[in-house]
Amino acid sequence: MQWMNTKGGYGWLAIALHWLAAIAVIAMLVTGFQAGFAGDAGDRAARSALMGLHISIGASVILILLARVVSSYLQPRPTPPEQAPFLQFLSSATHQVLLLAILLQVVSGPLAVWSGGRAIHVFDLFSLPSPFAARNQGIHEIAETLHAIGRWALVGAISLHVLGALKHVIIDRDGVMRRILAPSKS
Ligand code: HEM
Ligand code: HEM
Repeated sequence: MQWMNTKGGYGWLAIALHWLAAIAVIAMLVTGFQAGFAGDAGDRAARSALMGLHISIGASVILILLARVVSSYLQPRPTPPEQAPFLQFLSSATHQVLLLAILLQVVSGPLAVWSGGRAIHVFDLFSLPSPFAARNQGIHEIAETLHAIGRWALVGAISLHVLGALKHVIIDRDGVMRRILAPSKS
């Protein structure tokens, strides 16, 4: 069983974390934007329920997301597929933006809650109390701004990333998709 990455391809650890984190990030985008839309529509009860869900899911997946980023930087990176230098650059820049934006969200999200003087409530099961003695408006605004930058960075980079993956499947047919589904045998 090949657990770790090699220059030749991804191992099971990176593959499992890639897909677990992909599902978690999509769930966070969907619940976050739904909460935003409910707020824009003036439905405070729905916004609060969806935000509660967003924060509960976020707190539950935070360790997976952190493990995903750390494991990506600690492991060897498989050799990128042969393609034009501009596409090589775009692909690795997109990967960096994805990893850094995940990190930004898992730091700024909890900080936005705690600096608001509130605890993080996880599905009515338990709470993570705020390390701030009182609301800190300055830090709260910085955290919200960083959280907004992170969400748009994720939306842009995920769109590029999925388009790139489709290009490799439909046009290049070079096995790049296969290597994020299972370790290569060679
Ligand atoms: C349908 C959705 C997705 C598809 C089809 C997909 C496909 C792929 C493929 C084929 C690779 C391998 C690229 C290579 O070997 O050069 C890859 C790597 C990667 N993917 Fe995705 N992906 C998806 C969703 C996501 C999401 C939502 C994120 C993050 C938010 C993400 C982050 C990454 C990163 C950072 C890498 C680089 C490898 C690493 O550092 O572990 N992917 N993805
Ligand atoms: C990859 C992870 C995450 C993504 C993609 C994400 C995405 C989003 C989105 C799209 C919104 C928009 C709401 C609006 O339009 O008003 C939002 C808001 C928010 N999120 Fe997250 N989030 C993530 C992680 C977290 C975590 C881990 C927490 C806390 C445990 C959190 C707490 C919040 C809070 C308090 C808000 C409302 C304040 C604000 O708009 O900045 N988020 N998030």
